[in-house]
Amino acid sequence: MLGRNKPILAIDIGSSEIKALEVSDTSRGITLTGFGRARIGSQNDTIMAINELMQQCRFKTKRCVTSVSGRSVIVRYVDMHQMSEEDLKQAIRFEADKYIPFEVDDVVMDTQILEDNVASSDQASMRVLLVAVRKSLIEEHLLLLQEAGLSPLTIDVDAFALGNAFELRASRQGGLSPEKVVALIDIGANKTNINILKGPVSYFTREVYLAGNDFTEAVSRKFNLEPDEAERFKADPGDQATDVEEAILPTLDDLGNEIQLSFDYFENQFDRVVEEVYVSGGSARLPGLQRAFEGAFEKSVVFWNPLEGVEVAAGKIDTRVLEAYAGQLAVGVGLATRVRRW
Ligand SMILES: Nc1ncnc2c1ncn2[C@@H]1O[C@H](COP(=O)(O)OP(=O)(O)OP(=O)(O)O)[C@@H](O)[C@H]1O
Ligand SMILES: [Mg+2]
Repeated sequence: MLGRNKPILAIDIGSSEIKALEVSDTSRGITLTGFGRARIGSQNDTIMAINELMQQCRFKTKRCVTSVSGRSVIVRYVDMHQMSEEDLKQAIRFEADKYIPFEVDDVVMDTQILEDNVASSDQASMRVLLVAVRKSLIEEHLLLLQEAGLSPLTIDVDAFALGNAFELRASRQGGLSPEKVVALIDIGANKTNINILKGPVSYFTREVYLAGNDFTEAVSRKFNLEPDEAERFKADPGDQATDVEEAILPTLDDLGNEIQLSFDYFENQFDRVVEEVYVSGGSARLPGLQRAFEGAFEKSVVFWNPLEGVEVAAGKIDTRVLEAYAGQLAVGVGLATRVRRW
């Protein structure tokens, strides 16, 4: 099992928890050699949590990949006249202000041609993925990692990392069928990420700011608990699971409706139906979620395990802890796929 590339750390800095995966690319595929997590306390001290994690885990490398998300990250799918990748990079600088709510000079932009030949009434056009991230967010994120002594190699976007993790898992199970449409839903603490894929290509992404914190708030209101207590009670309600389920149901319905709106938009735009829904993220563990989603979407809702995409190095990791936590590692595993480039 000689490493073909040097190991890297995939660091998913969530709003409530940091997850770190140390991976190498070996002859057996992407191999996990280390794993750690740290909660970000109620003081929102992310740097303290990263430092704590690094001290605990003593990873072999400081080279890391990470991702950003939130309102400073803009993803757009735009139709443009056909042109080369190089011309596109120039052209988009002049057109970007039509699509993004920030000054072009304040963002880092990237583009990718998704479909080269889109039927259009006039000229031949192509569908382009445009990603713009505010420079201030990137700088903030890089500083955080550098302060913790880490060397960031690249920054990804949560939604695409999620897609990469899904594709990696599928690659070990016969691959993605190129025409199949699925929705990936990652429900974290602050936000729910929606990414609709046809085959390996993302056709729609959106973040809904409705997630774990809102469920905690619903529990806190119903049972009159402090936020920290409500957080613990939500995850471990003992024999009051039914009461918790009842308390969170209206919020769960709201989330289901928001996701359904995204499905409707996609289905109208592309005349294709979302066939299956794959759920991940810490809040996917909520009691009653599967039932509520299946009822709302009338489709199969699958809780998938992102770790099925990677090899776990024997003896290095407590696999029981890892497996219990697997659903929260989708973004991390997606970031880990970058080891193949570095
Ligand atoms: N057993 C459980 N039942 C219900 N909710 C849970 C459970 N375990 C964890 N959670 C919730 O999962 C969330 C953390 O999940 P995750 O690590 O995916 O979020 P994050 O990445 O920190 O947040 P975000 O992606 O929104 O920035 C928290 O809101 C937590 O309350
Ligand atoms: Mg997250």
